[in-house]
Amino acid sequence: CGIMGYIGDGPAVPVIINGLSKLEYRGYDSAGLAVYQEHSLQISKKKGRLNELVEAMGDYPPTGLAIGHTRWATHGIPSDMNAHPHIDCSGRIALVHNGIIENYAGLRKELMLKGHDFVSETDTEVIAHLIEEYYQESLEEAVRESLKHLQGSFAIAVISAEEPDKIIAAKKDSPMVVGLGENENYLASDIPAILGKTNRVYIIEDREFVVLQKDMVSITDFDGRPIKKELFPINWDPIAAEKNGYDHFMLKEIHEQPAALRETLRGNIKDQVADLAHFNIDDIFADVKKIYIVACGTAYHAGLVGRWAIEKLARIPVETEIASEFRYRDVLWHPQSLMIVISQSGETADTMAVLREAKRNGIRVLAVTNVVGSAVSREADRVIYTHAGPEIAVASTKAYSTQLLIMYLLALHLARVRGTMPLNELKELTGELARIDGLAEKVFEQQNRIKEMAARHKDVQNTFFLGRGFDYAVAMEGALKLKEISYIHAEAYAAGELKHGPLALIYEGVPVLALITQDHLVEKTMSNIREVKARGAIVIAICKANLQESCQECDEQIILPDVNPILAPIVGVIPLQIFAYYMAIFRGADVDKPRNLAKSVTVE
Ligand code: G6P
Repeated sequence: CGIMGYIGDGPAVPVIINGLSKLEYRGYDSAGLAVYQEHSLQISKKKGRLNELVEAMGDYPPTGLAIGHTRWATHGIPSDMNAHPHIDCSGRIALVHNGIIENYAGLRKELMLKGHDFVSETDTEVIAHLIEEYYQESLEEAVRESLKHLQGSFAIAVISAEEPDKIIAAKKDSPMVVGLGENENYLASDIPAILGKTNRVYIIEDREFVVLQKDMVSITDFDGRPIKKELFPINWDPIAAEKNGYDHFMLKEIHEQPAALRETLRGNIKDQVADLAHFNIDDIFADVKKIYIVACGTAYHAGLVGRWAIEKLARIPVETEIASEFRYRDVLWHPQSLMIVISQSGETADTMAVLREAKRNGIRVLAVTNVVGSAVSREADRVIYTHAGPEIAVASTKAYSTQLLIMYLLALHLARVRGTMPLNELKELTGELARIDGLAEKVFEQQNRIKEMAARHKDVQNTFFLGRGFDYAVAMEGALKLKEISYIHAEAYAAGELKHGPLALIYEGVPVLALITQDHLVEKTMSNIREVKARGAIVIAICKANLQESCQECDEQIILPDVNPILAPIVGVIPLQIFAYYMAIFRGADVDKPRNLAKSVTVE
């Protein structure tokens, strides 16, 4: 989500609208704003894009205090009601929020007992009511007190009709910046929103608390201790800023993966074990003897990893298939089966068709999607959301890694519920999954190396991607990325299958990218690598640090941090995404909008 606030001499609303328009890449399913006018707050909110809000708003007061929001739903479907700002019972307080309040359900219950009425399905609304509960004379004190009760991630901006000289803001785990002007100050979740107005910016850090007035900014910690801040030097142009300084959305989204993983992990591990019970899924898995995972494109590749993880850890047979194939098959539905559909957009036509077919056959469906309120989420029996945030580049990156994460969490959850793994092993693997964001981050240390590698190989016609087990699934995703954005022919093959045909295609100088993360299969894959090397291929190994010795024969190496082989796909895919990105760049392709492709395919 994107938040924006303005306090100053000028009319606030145009500044807010302009700022929000620069933040639409952070969310665009609904928008809203609150503006101060004569001891009250005027609220406008609308489902849809920002321009729909602007059209619906009509006249607004020219006063100098407002906050606004552009939303990417996490709790509650996109709707006028769920759009921000949210207000308290009295309508005195308005608040915008970016993040997820994990303990909102409990807080909501407590507040309802105290007589608060809720009108939305969001987690955010509890914050407005909590502040109301503590609000006597000072909004600042009420917000400080409320923060003590919030668990999760948040960047919030709050205004009160009774104190129109200030905006109160606080941040934990969601971004926030403050911009300084002359007799006016700005607040936003990201620099692009204020770039046209000022380049004097403070980056607000976690657990910092801001009181913004038109001629003064005070920044303290949550307990009120003052914090001295340095101005952040800005030398971005406005276009680059929307991409957070990256040249393309794809590169930005590749780099957002550690944060997206963190957001998706949030609240799903309790007492060192994966716990997805809050998605209400235990009843639908109770007697399940077979699982179908169905999806398209990148989501299908996540489903392949899901199959291996669920079979290995939870010991339930899984069949993963492409939706456009599955829908025309004469499926022998297992009577005690369950379907999992995976879809970033939640709108893909083939995936939807399979979901409906499953339901017609009395099979229950669990959806894994990134878009709250999407078709898939509405029609499935249960939904688990990935919290990747909006993905703008057509080639999927952060959605994929968060889909993988959900697959692992689900496999670990089911393993625990079904007792298929000793508790100590379960905790160990879960512990490693909980740290996977950090391991993913480490891969970026190799970015320049991968870039140089891409520069060397940019003129090739063909490429091959090899792997076994989990590595094969990642090889498929790596080949898809390269095809999609660089238009280079890329084939993924199960390493052991190579000699049954594709080996005939290997020639002098062809690059072969080999995934080597499965400790027990290294020697097997290495013998396949020797087969292609003997025919002149240049082998690029993407291998874990502990397996480096074993793949010394490879021509080039990208080293991954050590990680349990089961979880390796999350880190293993990142070098392949980066490789595809630079190959596309060096060939002058339109990375974010590759030819002939669409982000969401709503036709058959
Ligand atoms: C399109 C996109 C792919 C995506 C696939 C499935 O082909 O270009 O990136 O993987 O659709 O989309 P979904 O939204 O269902 O995950």
